Amino acid sequence: MLPGWSAGEEKPLPAPVMTGGMPLLEAIAQRHSVRDYDTTRAIDDQTLADILWVAWGVNSYGKRTVPTSRGLQNMQLFVLTPTGTWEYDGPGHKLVKVNDKNLIPLCERQDFVKNAPLHLLYTCLDDRGGENHVGSAYQNVYLYCTSRGLSTVVRAMIDKDALKAGIGLPENHLVVVHQCIGWPAPKK
Ligand SMILES: Cc1cc2nc3c(=O)[nH]c(=O)nc-3n(C[C@H](O)[C@H](O)[C@H](O)COP(=O)(O)O)c2cc1C
Repeated sequence: MLPGWSAGEEKPLPAPVMTGGMPLLEAIAQRHSVRDYDTTRAIDDQTLADILWVAWGVNSYGKRTVPTSRGLQNMQLFVLTPTGTWEYDGPGHKLVKVNDKNLIPLCERQDFVKNAPLHLLYTCLDDRGGENHVGSAYQNVYLYCTSRGLSTVVRAMIDKDALKAGIGLPENHLVVVHQCIGWPAPKK
């Protein structure tokens, strides 16, 4: 995914699909963490765009898809890929390349992680509600994944200091959680 781009480059995303899906209450009823992924199936650009939008995009009220304390938009959402790190720009609904590093190994304290085709990293600029905002965002992603038939789990077992250094985040920023996402593994 996203090979051949340089730091600072922007990748526009398909417009998010803001209608349809599973009824909300059914998605809530079926939400659960899944740690087995189909290693042969990538996440297509439309699905990636929809995931990023539900997590931290701008909705039809011109609001973020998650509430933020005092309206502080102090969360950041990164996509980690084998060929580099990207930041999601919600208002611009695009990805901006941060570096050419593969930071996924810094999230691989559990074996299943390497099998996921999509890796999100949530950080916040400060502790003024930032971790709560992250929680709202990853729950939105859980519900989207349930609706879309995707598997996901949010994870705190990551090397936060190394990730902060790898992205080049200031010392006072917080690396909060990683979320891996993929299509369900074929039934054994
Ligand atoms: C803040 C947070 C951190 C978590 N960290 C991990 C983790 O590092 N590894 C993991 O496998 N699951 C992790 N989980 C997932 C939980 O283990 C999972 O949500 C819990 O077992 C309940 O299962 P359920 O999500 O299917 O309801 C985390 C969940 C949360 C909310």
